Amino acid sequence: MRKKITVVGAGNVGATVAQRLFERGYADIVLVDIVEGLPQGKALDMLESGPVLGTDSKITGTNSYEDTANSDVVVITAGIARKPGMSRDDLLFTNMDIVGGVAEQVARYSPESIIIVVSNPLDAMAQQALDITKFPRERVIGMAGILDTARFRTFLSEAVNASVEDVQAYVLGGHGDTMVPLVQSTNVAGIPISKLLAPDVLEPIVQRARDGGAEIVGLLKTGSAFYAPSAAVAQMVDSIILDKKRIVPCAAYLKGEYGIDGLYIGVPVKLGAKGIEEIIEVELSTDEKANLDNSAAAVTELIDVMSKRGS
Ligand code: NAI
Ligand code: 2OP
Repeated sequence: MRKKITVVGAGNVGATVAQRLFERGYADIVLVDIVEGLPQGKALDMLESGPVLGTDSKITGTNSYEDTANSDVVVITAGIARKPGMSRDDLLFTNMDIVGGVAEQVARYSPESIIIVVSNPLDAMAQQALDITKFPRERVIGMAGILDTARFRTFLSEAVNASVEDVQAYVLGGHGDTMVPLVQSTNVAGIPISKLLAPDVLEPIVQRARDGGAEIVGLLKTGSAFYAPSAAVAQMVDSIILDKKRIVPCAAYLKGEYGIDGLYIGVPVKLGAKGIEEIIEVELSTDEKANLDNSAAAVTELIDVMSKRGS
């Protein structure tokens, strides 16, 4: 029997995630939204691509969580997205309610599932899903680091004129302006990036990666990125469903790792059939550790705002 994956939110990110996963062929997909007809229409359209693509998976759209029962993985993309001039944090209260409501339904209908949170502000929404579901931390994971790192790798590969596959980098920290590209360990086929690019070339690339989400919002004007985000989600789902044990940067709830306690923040994790199977503690330089602490402080501020409003 195929695995079952639910994608909540049939908007830009959710529908594209559903499409990528449907085309993998390893799972049946349920696409959920509050808008009547939207998930049904998009799912049927994708299903009808099956004969052309040679995919026998099933994909259905629904407005009811009963159809999502016993999912192995649930991807939460429900919520509002940024428009020009809005930060990810501007979405806090609206998406807190939406993600909270979705998480309740996931806990009820798929109590053994692994949740991947995508809705923004990412680290706070992962915390919200953890608090509401009361799942173990291994099964509530935030998607951001793979996307932020992919943007950094894209710009670096253009600058050094080498394949994106040979550019190794990590972006850690919260999914926001304080994210932390680990420049000192960034390399191209083992050659440190500092030997290939001068500081005055590298620094704008680091900044462009930090502003990567805003750059797309500025161009699209009516919403935010979804092709690269959905590719990042699919990589996480691959690693879980296929038990690949990829080590990738994801938002994980830390309990003392990196000296941070009781907070979601982007760090390298091993993703497998059980969800987060290990939090990998890489050595950070003094600057990088200070930047990670600074990023954790920014996430903590949001969590504080959320808890004050919740009480
Ligand atoms: P979108 O507006 O295209 O789609 C959102 C969908 O959620 C809509 O179809 C809406 O009807 C649905 N929705 C709203 N309330 C719902 C509920 N209670 N239950 C089920 N569905 C509900 O937005 P898009 O572009 O798909 O973005 C979704 C979220 O993902 C946003 O919060 C965005 O900021 C975030 N995002 C996060 C990224 C990350 O790196 N973590 C990357 C890209 C987007
Ligand atoms: C992004 O980074 C909006 O968080 C989203 O594209």
